[in-house]
Amino acid sequence: MCGIIGYVGGKKASEIIYRGLKTLEYRGYDSVGVVVDTPKGMELRKGKGMVEEVSEALQFTSMDGTTGIGHTRWATHGVACKENAHPHTDCTGKIASVHNGVIENYQELKEGLKKKGHKFSSETDSEIFAHLVEDEKKAGKDTFQAFLASLKKLKGSFAIALLAEGERKIYVARKNSPLVIGLGKGESFAASDMTAMLEHTKDFVPLGEMEAAVLETGGVKFYSLEGKEIQKTPMHVDWSPDMAEKGGYAHFMLKEIYDQKHFVYESLATDVSAANALISRYKSVHITACGTSYHAALMFKYLSQKYLGKACDAIIASEYPFIASPDKDTLVIAISQSGETADTMKALEHAKAKGAKILALTNVVGSSITRVADEVVYLNSGPEVSVAATKTFTSQLAVIYKLLFPDNDFSEIPKIISDSLQKEAEIKKIAETIKGKTDVFFIGRGLSVPIAMEGALKLKEISYIHAEAYPGGELKHGPLSLITEGVPVIALAPSDETVYKMLGNIKEVRARGGFVISLNNSQEIAKESNISINLSSVDPLLHPFAMVIPLQLLAYYVSVARGINPDRPRNLAKSVTVE
Ligand code: M6R
Repeated sequence: MCGIIGYVGGKKASEIIYRGLKTLEYRGYDSVGVVVDTPKGMELRKGKGMVEEVSEALQFTSMDGTTGIGHTRWATHGVACKENAHPHTDCTGKIASVHNGVIENYQELKEGLKKKGHKFSSETDSEIFAHLVEDEKKAGKDTFQAFLASLKKLKGSFAIALLAEGERKIYVARKNSPLVIGLGKGESFAASDMTAMLEHTKDFVPLGEMEAAVLETGGVKFYSLEGKEIQKTPMHVDWSPDMAEKGGYAHFMLKEIYDQKHFVYESLATDVSAANALISRYKSVHITACGTSYHAALMFKYLSQKYLGKACDAIIASEYPFIASPDKDTLVIAISQSGETADTMKALEHAKAKGAKILALTNVVGSSITRVADEVVYLNSGPEVSVAATKTFTSQLAVIYKLLFPDNDFSEIPKIISDSLQKEAEIKKIAETIKGKTDVFFIGRGLSVPIAMEGALKLKEISYIHAEAYPGGELKHGPLSLITEGVPVIALAPSDETVYKMLGNIKEVRARGGFVISLNNSQEIAKESNISINLSSVDPLLHPFAMVIPLQLLAYYVSVARGINPDRPRNLAKSVTVE
């Protein structure tokens, strides 16, 4: 949900900002802009479109100057257009700011500013901020005091960066939206996430909730929003910049699908003993998450109930505050790749207020979720850039398996993933049969249900084909009326206790003309299917790992066959920091 980057130092700011914006583009890509304090004064360039095309048209990197901020947008208030793109400036053009989040009371503030004569050129909530600062400065405050006074007027969420002409400083603050400070030698950075700064530094301070900072060439000072200076301890991160590069693959998604065979080792090596002890102490366990992470939450629930006989609830995070009643005897497990998802954070706020204990499973060190959690388990999947979550899902599964079955040996998992990756050419052909369809159904039973849901989410998210998943037994209760000649049904039918029931479902579909593509490891299922994807025979507990890879590849190749960029699906963003 919008990417922010700021730089102050001795190098050409526009180049650093441009490269950072390209890395941050996964957070929003409908418009982009850069402002640099050049030797001739403040210069602003912005436009609708993706970073590379706008920069090519407007020559971002031709701007001189060593202090600047940039922004890549995911629209919330106002359509994607040049006027609504950030940075926004005040009436004088000497103060510029970028914002990620939602300013809920912007209409009221805007009306007040208009009455004072301020002129606005966008429909955004964000534009008011530079004007608020201008107003406070007119009243005699210096920029930092004006910045703090303006922040106090905001309701909602924000990660904000602001600069004023000629000052060689960047002012930043956050509330419910991420912002990380990068520490360099004679230079300072701020960005929505670490990956945008990795080529310059590996020393970071994630800005805390309701904190501000002032960045200068000589270093960074941190403050509370009341203006009291605070001390922060930097952390060192050993991710390398090439971990966030495509490495010869056509898209990040394909690279990240292949990454799974390596990173799953790291996830399996994660120390989960403290988390494990925590889980065994609690009778009442809630798991909360969104999207793909919610499917991992469902896997936790299914595995726990089926194999350990321990009931637990998996609740979609945006629903959690409305339907869950945690208390001090509840353990709430939050699963979030980014650790920044606003819905998940809200669910945790609710749980915390009721006295629940929090365990977080996340991929991002220092992310917001880690600061509210009592215990954290890191996924160790390396940075995931593509909007579609792939490798972090298998890492979530690996960690969940370790949490639930600490005594099992899971060393077979990387091989299962590698074997499934061998299906790439086969899946690419199958994608051709699906690319022109309007609806695709996914069915499974037992442990295959969350994987079917994940397959459907992946396909609809990046191919724009309507896709839905059902437990096989549910077909006859409604969805079967949608199965007509040629409608694809992807049946997850591995050889486990569900296989004969799935065989029945496949026959039902075929009898109505449906086109069955099955994932199986039995002749019987293969024979009944129009297309059969044969899985290697593995312990049924591990079937989810074997099945999810072909589904990820299928979504990827259907997306590419339809001429879509799978890394940047329309209307979506990688890190969803609005509710
Ligand atoms: O960062 P999170 O795991 O909290 O993100 C949750 C969802 O937004 C995310 O999984 C989303 O569904 C993915 N784009 C799916 O591929």
